Amino acid sequence: MHVILIAGGWSDERDVSLSGARKIHTALEELGHDVTFFDPADDFKNLLKTARKADFAFINLHGTPGEDGLIQAVLDKAGCPYQGAGPAASYLALNKAASKEVFEDLAIKTPAWQIITPTQGVNAPLDLPLPVFVKPDKGGSSLGMSLVKKAEDLPAALDKVFAMCQSALVEEYIPGVELTCGILGDRALPLIMIRPKANAEFFDYENKYAEDGADEICPAPVSDALTASIQGQMLAAHKALGLTGYSRGDFMVTDSGEAYLLEVNTLPGMTPTSLLPQAAAHVGLSFTDLIGELIRLGIE
Ligand code: DAL
Ligand code: MG
Repeated sequence: MHVILIAGGWSDERDVSLSGARKIHTALEELGHDVTFFDPADDFKNLLKTARKADFAFINLHGTPGEDGLIQAVLDKAGCPYQGAGPAASYLALNKAASKEVFEDLAIKTPAWQIITPTQGVNAPLDLPLPVFVKPDKGGSSLGMSLVKKAEDLPAALDKVFAMCQSALVEEYIPGVELTCGILGDRALPLIMIRPKANAEFFDYENKYAEDGADEICPAPVSDALTASIQGQMLAAHKALGLTGYSRGDFMVTDSGEAYLLEVNTLPGMTPTSLLPQAAAHVGLSFTDLIGELIRLGIE
């Protein structure tokens, strides 16, 4: 098949996208496809034209555009199939606050939150007790994220977010360990437990992508009951958001075993240190097998 590999883009996660794309490029060639690389940051104008000539598009963009459904909408218009979620579901899942309302509808716990916008300003009253996480409402890879412990540090954290996003998500701090759950097709993959290194207070950008940045244990050493519960919650969230193909949800789990769903990623990272490929490996899928399976699900 003639596959366009769409990666790069202009979000702050551009480097993450390009890193994953190098591996995906190799995998697509191993699968025997004829690959054209397409970076919307260079040539956005020709996306529709390029997609009309392709048999399939593999999207490896993070943030906007790509994870927000824009590229998917253009590909739908061009009649070009692609892996993962369609435009509306992508847009919903990228919006952390809107997704949290979906989780709450499903009785899935999620940290308490409030949205602060530039119109309200950096001195807007805080509805939550400290400490809080402050992050872009639409973004990923922990970019722009701060753990705020003192009220006087809140304005600077909000300023950092407003430089990259129109709304800030301020979120209750849940002490515990981070667990992630991937979905592939209609099944939940084994859980991964993440223990950041280098004295990090959370799984930040450096810990996510440095080769030795975090201990990632798969399957996560938690009880079968907790594993099944998180997998069930993640499958329910995936379906309720209207996602297809794959996704990855990130949970915080307290010492007493209460799981809080933070967010669902519709285009999970595919870098050499990324999580979904590690979980797929545990069910016997090599990276190349995973790419082949995502294409099969995208065409289905
Ligand atoms: N946003 C990054 C790529 C992830 O969640 O994997
Ligand atoms: Mg994320």
